[in-house]
Amino acid sequence: MAAATDKPMLRFITCGSVDDGKSTLIGRLLFEANCVFDDQMQALESDSKKFGTQGERTDLALLVDGLQAEREQGITIDVAYRFFATAQRKFVVADTPGHEQYTRNMATGASTAQLAVLLVDARKGVLTQTRRHSRIVAMMGVRHVVLAINKMDLVGFEPAVFARIDADYRAFAADLGFASIQAIPLSALEGDNVLVASTHTPWYSGPTLMTYLNQIEVGAPEQAAPFRMPVQWVNRPNADFRGFCGRIAQGEVRPGDCVKVLPSGVVTQVKAIVVWQGERDRAVAADSITLTLTHEVALGRGDVLVAADDAPEVADQFEARLLWMSELALLPGRSYWLKLHTQEVSASVTDIKYREDIDSGKHLAAKSLGLNEIALVNLSLAQPVVFEPYAQNRTLGGFVLIDKLSFETVAAGMISFALRRAANIHWQALTVDRVARAASLQQTPRCIWFTGLSGSGKSTIANLLEKRLHAQGRHTYILDGDNLRHGLNRDLGFTDADRVENIRRVAEVARLMVDAGLLVLVSFISPFRAERELARSLFAPGEFVEVFVDASLAECERRDPKGLYAKARRGELKNFTGIDSPYEPPLAPDVHLHSDGADSQALAEQLENFLHG
Ligand code: ADX
Repeated sequence: MAAATDKPMLRFITCGSVDDGKSTLIGRLLFEANCVFDDQMQALESDSKKFGTQGERTDLALLVDGLQAEREQGITIDVAYRFFATAQRKFVVADTPGHEQYTRNMATGASTAQLAVLLVDARKGVLTQTRRHSRIVAMMGVRHVVLAINKMDLVGFEPAVFARIDADYRAFAADLGFASIQAIPLSALEGDNVLVASTHTPWYSGPTLMTYLNQIEVGAPEQAAPFRMPVQWVNRPNADFRGFCGRIAQGEVRPGDCVKVLPSGVVTQVKAIVVWQGERDRAVAADSITLTLTHEVALGRGDVLVAADDAPEVADQFEARLLWMSELALLPGRSYWLKLHTQEVSASVTDIKYREDIDSGKHLAAKSLGLNEIALVNLSLAQPVVFEPYAQNRTLGGFVLIDKLSFETVAAGMISFALRRAANIHWQALTVDRVARAASLQQTPRCIWFTGLSGSGKSTIANLLEKRLHAQGRHTYILDGDNLRHGLNRDLGFTDADRVENIRRVAEVARLMVDAGLLVLVSFISPFRAERELARSLFAPGEFVEVFVDASLAECERRDPKGLYAKARRGELKNFTGIDSPYEPPLAPDVHLHSDGADSQALAEQLENFLHG
């Protein structure tokens, strides 16, 4: 192991369908590289008898399929990182599952890989799965591909089969930007062309898989590039020491180097590089270090230290590619957490420019994205972040999107570039401010947000409340769903995506009206929690009052003031809330009005009392 530490490292990923023989191939690489210990070998032999698929033979796939569940199902269900070494190199291989639900793991594995081994079953050739995996590894920045055409023994080691699959793949991959593609005819099970050149393929003059992995030059661009280090935390054990800890994402650093702190832009100098053994005179990409600086600067988690003379940009709008990894659709306008190395900010997709067809790469129009779909989008962030295009720097160009309610990671993203228009729009300073406006109206402006099913009584109660407030000399305005859909929102329908945009717009309008000093009553079904939370986030604490007008679906259907429930039941109206479109009731509304069988006047009074209380 000691000897292994100085060798260059190659990180690669293996991708293939469930039955392509991926685990067997990795098992064989480990086995033949002599990376299997005696006790593992014994366990393997006994496991082979229990779980193996190879009869009396040792099943090498069991070396790799570490998880009980996958052994029992015969499939791989997580990313497993394996380490092995040869005389020339160290290897880290990410073994990732092939079936569709687990694209997320594949993207994770690919994000740090320099090369991908794509397995193809010689009997089946290039499949949709192969194309999907290729697009994902390409978008995750992998530049080198080995097309491992496996199970050649099952097609009689026929050179024409190999040549056809090789040609098919190259035609498909032509526009994916790979720097190299090497096809190798294999039998992982029998060991042909894995380590030793096969006697069954005299027509193949290329390298074996192991030879190729040992020799391929993938370059080490990270060290030549300018210095970047996202700060993970500040180490301050006592008043005399303040160190900034992180992992160098790119480039190198020495004591005395001028560095810039982003986003603030302050320039300072490196005093020392501290590691646990002591101080060092140089650190490079992938080193985890602590830096001390010559000046006292304000610096914390999320900031980035960069070469002062070659700094990256700071921006809050981007064009980016997204791989959507959730069963829940992406909805433009919905607010997600965007996590870019140590920075975390609110972000939403403002536009889906196109979705890419997995097979053909064709650009398709899309209003939302589903599981495993790839798209080019525009993103808008609540605050600027330090970034670089993903093609230049994976650490500062790659991000994930996280659902704000479930905390599920829903997308992997790669920044293409910042949108310039963002940098050219500034806040106009105004002299008469919100406080002055509210004072002249002699009231405390607020947004009173009514949510509930169609027919629950939102508009009726809002109307009664407005009459009462008006009678007291308050300045009010009602924003009603039906009414706004005749004007500002007339271009929107009732799909999930359109409802998200509907609420985003009315929330922005309500904010302007509150800014103008008004008491604004918003009466929209607003069926999704995420968008009601977005609306709340636009206001100061206490300024936004969520009122849940709670009536049972049966009662709303009985009232059916516009005859729409009847229409929906007859199938003449699609996506009707409560029937075939969801309503997510508030979990903790500020006011909960039960409107089944209640008197609207009494509910309006209850609400008025709350507002005055
Ligand atoms: S929201 O879901 O996007 O908040 P909004 O409050 O603007 O809905 O509009 C709801 C009103 O549109 C309902 O009161 C009803 O009169 C009408 N409507 C027409 N089609 C639908 C539908 N498919 N689902 C819900 N409401 C509909």
